Amino acid sequence: MITLLPGDGIGPEVTTAARTVLETIATKYGHRFSFKEHLIGGAAIDALGDPLPPDTIASCQDCDAVLLGAVGGPKWSDPNAAVRPEQGLLKLRTVLGVFANLRPVKVFEELVPASPLKAEILRGVDMIVVRELTGGIYFGDKTRDETSASDLCTYHAFEIERIVRVAAELAAGRRGHLCSVDKANVLETSRLWRDTTDSIIANEYPGIELETLLVDAAAMHLLSRPADFDVIVTENMFGDILTDEASMLAGSLGMLPSASLGESTRGLYEPIHGSAPDIAGKGLANPAAAIASSAMLLRHSLALEAEAVAIEAAIAAVIAAGGRTADIATAGDRVLSTSEFNKAVTEQLA
Ligand code: IPM
Ligand code: MN
Repeated sequence: MITLLPGDGIGPEVTTAARTVLETIATKYGHRFSFKEHLIGGAAIDALGDPLPPDTIASCQDCDAVLLGAVGGPKWSDPNAAVRPEQGLLKLRTVLGVFANLRPVKVFEELVPASPLKAEILRGVDMIVVRELTGGIYFGDKTRDETSASDLCTYHAFEIERIVRVAAELAAGRRGHLCSVDKANVLETSRLWRDTTDSIIANEYPGIELETLLVDAAAMHLLSRPADFDVIVTENMFGDILTDEASMLAGSLGMLPSASLGESTRGLYEPIHGSAPDIAGKGLANPAAAIASSAMLLRHSLALEAEAVAIEAAIAAVIAAGGRTADIATAGDRVLSTSEFNKAVTEQLA
């Protein structure tokens, strides 16, 4: 059973697209997937006053995988509101224990013109950013009074060890290169991060080539030499920021999928983009990231590698054939709506 959490903004549109693709896979390969849809984020606040209602939690704990659209929007964005849509997503990540967020960044040759970067810089870009997802400043104590505020950033060695192992295993199956990103010249958490990473790699992964970058330099290197990166591992907030930056290599935030994994095979899958309230309900959203997230779901939670590859190949084929939603279109391209792009992918699969 797959729990679907469409959420807010363009979330429902892209989740529907991903579901159609999973249903096409089921038909083609003789599987039976069942889906249960639940509320999260602003939609859940409106209906029940809670961004992560108990029914949603129960379904997420009971299923094989969770596929999420996006949460948030102007309606709920009053910074002083007691409940916010994002709290639902953060709590869900904690409840599911999905500490490892895998965000692959791949540049399709045909989309090079869609990126603001020069073609020669983009050639061969193929990396995975492994973002720590359940620790750090996102989850530390917060204080606020009239004139001051604070957010506590804490990391425990065990949290760093487990995420570095995930990243090192991935690197071992790829080009054997791991880049750890921190701010060890300023932050104590980063000094623990660096020491822990150094010893895990030295003791357990002698074959992995480890590079260490400060986050400010990493932000620059991502644009100046992105093809050099294989696997990047970093803490929660740095990973959030660097992957929005990295999405511009791929041409659009609408291209990047993600998988959030913990100790079990149950995972949370979501596009890295947000709810894009400005284009919601207009059929303008790019469903590629959500569809590619469903491929990651098949790979990591259901061990259906061939099916995952088929979805990724179908997306690539649609793009190679000129299929473009508005975000990745360049002058002269015919622009496909969300459902037209979705249909092109399912037809390619079937
Ligand atoms: C993401 C999003 C979330 C995050 C928000 C919606 C809380 O930006 O998944 O990257 O910051 O983790
Ligand atoms: Mn983000």
